[in-house]
Amino acid sequence: MKILAFAGALRAGSHNRKLLGVAVEALRDQADVDRLDLREVPMPPYDGDIEANEGLPEGARAFKLRIAAADALLIASPEYNWSIPGTLKNVIDWASRPPNNPFKGKVALLMGASPGAYGAVRSVLALRQVLTALGVLILPSTVQIARADQAFDEAGKLKDPKSTALVEKACAELVRVTGLMKG
Ligand SMILES: Cc1cc2nc3c(=O)[nH]c(=O)nc-3n(C[C@H](O)[C@H](O)[C@H](O)COP(=O)(O)O)c2cc1C
Repeated sequence: MKILAFAGALRAGSHNRKLLGVAVEALRDQADVDRLDLREVPMPPYDGDIEANEGLPEGARAFKLRIAAADALLIASPEYNWSIPGTLKNVIDWASRPPNNPFKGKVALLMGASPGAYGAVRSVLALRQVLTALGVLILPSTVQIARADQAFDEAGKLKDPKSTALVEKACAELVRVTGLMKG
């Protein structure tokens, strides 16, 4: 089983990158995880004229291939102004363009971390809506890490074992449901 894992944040010290790392570690013996840094697939803001005149940018094509090669998606997204960061929405928009929709039929676990009190829950809700439009089966359970600026130790692990257990449980569910979908 192959899982494409990426954070919706670009910055090196991102809490969401750390949260993704915790989940990737939890999946280590259960799946083949392809960890993607969105900086590896740069693309301009979506522009229909670029698409019409030049086709999809190289980064978008590479991103589509990485999605297509996976059975499931693991995404940790920040919350910007109660919603998905524009960077993340932009790469999803490019990747959704024809000739194929690589998202269709994938299973996804959505996570979010925020220094605020709500753990990026509104961003994850918005991401659920967008990915549902693209035919992704999204697990009902999510992982939300509030007060993320205090939640991780220097090694990037979650300080609270209960939070780690939640991540592990959600990852196990991702593996179980993806296995069912694969038949
Ligand atoms: C443009 C912008 C808007 C933000 N809006 C929210 C918000 O609506 N809710 C929230 O909890 N945090 C918000 N934040 C704070 C982010 O949660 C915080 O910067 C977080 O650390 C970003 O995720 P990262 O650590 O993975 O980079 C915002 C940050 C930025 C830059």
